[in-house]
Amino acid sequence: MAKIDFGGTVEEVITSEEFPLSKAKEVLKNEKIAVLGYGVQGPGQALNLKDNGFPVIIGQREEEDFYWNKAIKDGFVPGETLFSIEEAARRGTMILYLLSDAGQMAAWPTVKRSLKEGDALYFSHGFSIVYKDQTKVIPPQNVDVIMVAPKGSGRSVRANFLDGSGINSSFAVFQDYTKRAKERTLALGIAIGSGYLFPTTFEKEVYSDLTGERGVLMGCLAGVMEAQYDLLRKRGHSPSEAFNETVEELTQSLIRLVAENGMDWMYANCSTTAQRGALDWKGRFKEAVAPVFEELYERVVAGEETRIVLEVNSAPDYREQLEKELAQMRNSEMWKAGAAVRSLRPENRKK
Ligand SMILES: NC(=O)c1ccc[n+]([C@@H]2O[C@H](COP(=O)([O-])OP(=O)(O)OC[C@H]3O[C@@H](n4cnc5c(N)ncnc54)[C@H](OP(=O)(O)O)[C@@H]3O)[C@@H](O)[C@H]2O)c1
Repeated sequence: MAKIDFGGTVEEVITSEEFPLSKAKEVLKNEKIAVLGYGVQGPGQALNLKDNGFPVIIGQREEEDFYWNKAIKDGFVPGETLFSIEEAARRGTMILYLLSDAGQMAAWPTVKRSLKEGDALYFSHGFSIVYKDQTKVIPPQNVDVIMVAPKGSGRSVRANFLDGSGINSSFAVFQDYTKRAKERTLALGIAIGSGYLFPTTFEKEVYSDLTGERGVLMGCLAGVMEAQYDLLRKRGHSPSEAFNETVEELTQSLIRLVAENGMDWMYANCSTTAQRGALDWKGRFKEAVAPVFEELYERVVAGEETRIVLEVNSAPDYREQLEKELAQMRNSEMWKAGAAVRSLRPENRKK
């Protein structure tokens, strides 16, 4: 384990140098890996495993043509490497449970009866286990319960693997029946294409993940952008100007500087006028949103957020309803202006 100083706190991190793919192959040589679910994480992890030389089978609900056919298009063969969820779980010794979180609750009785002594039940999120009072996902005592949670979309899990960069993940062991749970977890983490593996617990992973996506990563991001755009429009600015000053300059320039070298680097590369104002206003915004973050974290811990997710995403028409909400965003003036602004990016100019 490498010890790395994160701003004064030393944490242990597993690297692919100390746990190379050859070691993962040795640890997993007798395992049969079954990936249940072929949505977003399913294909990313399954195809990386396959390309890394691990035989993989897929379990997917058959009556739903879309993901079943996607697995066939990706080279999985019904009856050989593509099965029903129950059959794949029965055949596997490591069960990668990658249905949607609501799907995991629905399919649990089927998966539970397919588990055998010594199997590893693997998650990419702490959701089902931590909120077991809501999900009823309570694994038997005679299996390992482990997690590798990639820090990015399933699409990036695959795209980063293909471009050779990999993705970082957190990992945790919830239940160690075989006394090999940790090495099985690390081996799978490396086998799905992780570069570095950060230790966590199921609880810490799910609390931080639910907070992050509701907060800065998605919910807060969209909310503050809309608030600024609306203000500029109300004060007579054109849609293109409001969008450029709110989103385009951020995504095309400033956030790239943050990614490259940190927030101070981005500030240092802006005008002194911008720096002065940003330094003065940063505190005001922090103060304004801090109570909202407090409320958010409390609701996550109390299980309010997961209760809503399970209720809404278990509805038979959840995809249609979700598409309606996303279409509303897409068709708002702000994001239509965004489409027009994107079409004018210099790289999209007709040559
Ligand atoms: N999305 C990400 O990038 C990401 C990132 C990190 C961690 N994770 C975690 O990875 C896990 C998988 O997430 P995901 O986003 O990949 O899921 P997803 O795309 O929403 O998963 C869809 C899969 O779940 C199946 N499913 C849904 N409801 C079902 C039900 N009632 N019965 C049987 N199958 C059902 C779908 O098949 P049908 O065609 O049958 O509906 C499909 O195979 C989750 O624990 C998630 O929190 C996801």
